[in-house]
Amino acid sequence: MSGVSIRSVNKAFGATRVLRGVTLDIGDSEFMTLLGPSGCGKSTLLRIVAGLEAQDSGSIAIGGRPVDALRPRERDVAMVFQSYALYPHMTAAENIALPLVMRRSRVWQRLPVLRRALPSARRIRRDIAGEVGRVAAALDIGYLLERKPSQLSGGQRQRVALARAMVRQPRAFLMDEPLSNLDAKLRVQARAEIAELHRRLGTTFIYVTHDQAEAMTMSDRVAVMLDGEVLQCAPPATIYDDPADLRVAEFVGSPKINVITGAVGSTGQVEIAGTTLPLTVRRAPATALAVAFRAEHADVTPCTAEQQGALVGTVRHRENLGSDLFVYVEPQPASARLAVRLAASRTDDIRVGMRVAIRPDAARVLLFDRDGGRVRAA
Ligand SMILES: Nc1ncnc2c1ncn2[C@@H]1O[C@H](COP(=O)(O)OP(=O)(O)OP(=O)(O)O)[C@@H](O)[C@H]1O
Ligand SMILES: [Mg+2]
Repeated sequence: MSGVSIRSVNKAFGATRVLRGVTLDIGDSEFMTLLGPSGCGKSTLLRIVAGLEAQDSGSIAIGGRPVDALRPRERDVAMVFQSYALYPHMTAAENIALPLVMRRSRVWQRLPVLRRALPSARRIRRDIAGEVGRVAAALDIGYLLERKPSQLSGGQRQRVALARAMVRQPRAFLMDEPLSNLDAKLRVQARAEIAELHRRLGTTFIYVTHDQAEAMTMSDRVAVMLDGEVLQCAPPATIYDDPADLRVAEFVGSPKINVITGAVGSTGQVEIAGTTLPLTVRRAPATALAVAFRAEHADVTPCTAEQQGALVGTVRHRENLGSDLFVYVEPQPASARLAVRLAASRTDDIRVGMRVAIRPDAARVLLFDRDGGRVRAA
């Protein structure tokens, strides 16, 4: 049992409130990702769980046991940092072995001379070498063990740092943007490796990132954070398809979700300047709504000059990614550009400068009130 429970955690640095009553329950062997923009408090929360930072109020429990009074080493969690924090003068093997050396040998056994002479120290050294070999084999870095960090690539350093975290068999792994130093291609490969490692180890993972692709592909659940608060915590598909808050809808998804201003009509129908959507809500007439839809949930067709409405506009830009074609349309009357995804087969159909009509799929439209809270269609 090694779930992590975060209860009403508050933290301020001077006058800056960084965490505002964060409550989060991470299940035993769950892969939980903290996702949010730079500065929202992800690292601070992770450091509080690790015991590297103290919260102002609230509490942390690991495996059902409060750990607030425990020092980092006593919490039995392993942290992997963005910078990897490997010791440059030690080989990969020595770096990986370090947590075991620190834990298993007494101070005098770590002294170089005694270490060689004492039989007990020799046995400990043999055990540790065995453990290092086992973890290195699991991560496929056996052939790198005698190298110093400066002789390793970014991806190899990242695996050595992972190995060092794994060697202690901690109750939870805490990872703070461990892939951000890798190039795009290696990152895709490494995120698959980490997800597989999680399945194999069955240990609780708390993973911090501002990269939504990492969050969406690796996690059991994603906690979307903004300004020190968790806005929503749910499986990736729910975060994407059923966001509880407009800020979540806007943070997740690329291109960014389209948002236009609408209003409630006299019988509760949803209207966007001139167009009535086949949706009704239980709200007073004239209530303003944010009407949002994703690029893949709308269709675009060429239209005549006479056609009016918020969703008629001019194609300003196209992006052909091979598999997908995105068109960016400036609506009239002017508001933020709308992005629509088309099948790449329609390359010749929709061109820059063309007047087009956009029809969102009413079944996939998301409605939000003035405060960004979700409004459900009746
Ligand atoms: N030791 C500190 N002293 C003062 N302010 C700090 C300290 N550590 C963090 N902060 C501030 O707290 C806020 C949250 O920082 P944090 O590092 O948790 O953000 P983050 O979500 O991890 O961002 P990033 O994605 O850029 O790593 C930031 O505004 C940061 O400047
Ligand atoms: Mg951070």
